[in-house]
Amino acid sequence: MYVCLCKGITDTQIRTAVASGLTHYRELRLALGLSTQCGKCGVHAREVFREAVHPESTHSTLYYSAAQVV
Ligand code: FES
Repeated sequence: MYVCLCKGITDTQIRTAVASGLTHYRELRLALGLSTQCGKCGVHAREVFREAVHPESTHSTLYYSAAQVV
């Protein structure tokens, strides 16, 4: 899925960058150019980044929020 529409950056690109060794969000942002135009992707990009770096601590805020309606 697209995370950054301005730059056409996907969650797969973020996960690939993390798998290749980027461990800080700032590094990722500089490497991919995330959040460098309108900035609207910043929050979601951070969530994808955190999930990629710490998959065991994911609280599923990205994909399951619709199922949590009480
Ligand atoms: S959506 Fe990423 S900078 Fe605009």
